[in-house]
Amino acid sequence: MFPINEWGTSMSAAAFENVENEELALHRTANDAATDLANRIANIVRDKPDAVLGLATGGTMEPVYEALIAMNRDGLSFAGVRSFNLDEYLGLDPTHPMSYRATMHRIFFDHVDILPENTHLPNGTATDLTAESAAYENAIRQTGGIDLQILGIGRNGHIGFNEPGSTVNSRTRVVTLAPDTISANSRFFNRTEEQPVQAITMGLGTILEARQIAILATGKSKARALDNAMRGPVTPDCPASFLQDHKSVSWIADNEAADLL
Ligand code: GLP
Repeated sequence: MFPINEWGTSMSAAAFENVENEELALHRTANDAATDLANRIANIVRDKPDAVLGLATGGTMEPVYEALIAMNRDGLSFAGVRSFNLDEYLGLDPTHPMSYRATMHRIFFDHVDILPENTHLPNGTATDLTAESAAYENAIRQTGGIDLQILGIGRNGHIGFNEPGSTVNSRTRVVTLAPDTISANSRFFNRTEEQPVQAITMGLGTILEARQIAILATGKSKARALDNAMRGPVTPDCPASFLQDHKSVSWIADNEAADLL
């Protein structure tokens, strides 16, 4: 049994062996969990104003960005921050409203003082996608690496767009989305629109190089994936399970997502 005491408290996860710094933070509501993640991001930015943040999209992250926008209004500056998003749909122009580039501007970048030239997402319309992937890896490396990578989790345990079957050493590359991911994300597309079935994503190896990782899971639909990721075997069948071997990971969940722990 994973150690759970009181709601809203963080605890060291003694159940995980061989882990220097693993933590589970449980919250009553999705909004409390999102605020917790926003506070962690803010603390990193306060300590290191030119921090390199690994950012994520997905419905789970929207309240996190709302909280950060409010903090920016209250004086938290992102002017020195560099950011790298996890992934982008293949074939969607950055100006397409459903591209992750346009989404990030709509839900975060356009509302804070981050410099657009310091924000990075893979380009899903690059003509040479192998070169684009290698350039993305290089750009991350040139900043000195990601200080904090934030992650959501797919219902099938994916992180970024690393679907089941992804290997621990995988790097930024083109992937084909799992049917469950396509169906989960169809809510963001009009019925008349062509929904991409491929994406370009940081690999698991790329993600695991971040100095700190914080993964946020909220809602009933994530309970099985979170349980598999935290307590199941470390396996490509559940890509998020590789986080168990990272030296500094915080699992942040609301009570619905934590239901099976
Ligand atoms: C998407 C993204 C992931 C995200 C996940 C969950 O497909 N590529 O980065 O974490 O699926 O999304 P949501 O938060 O909308 O459930």
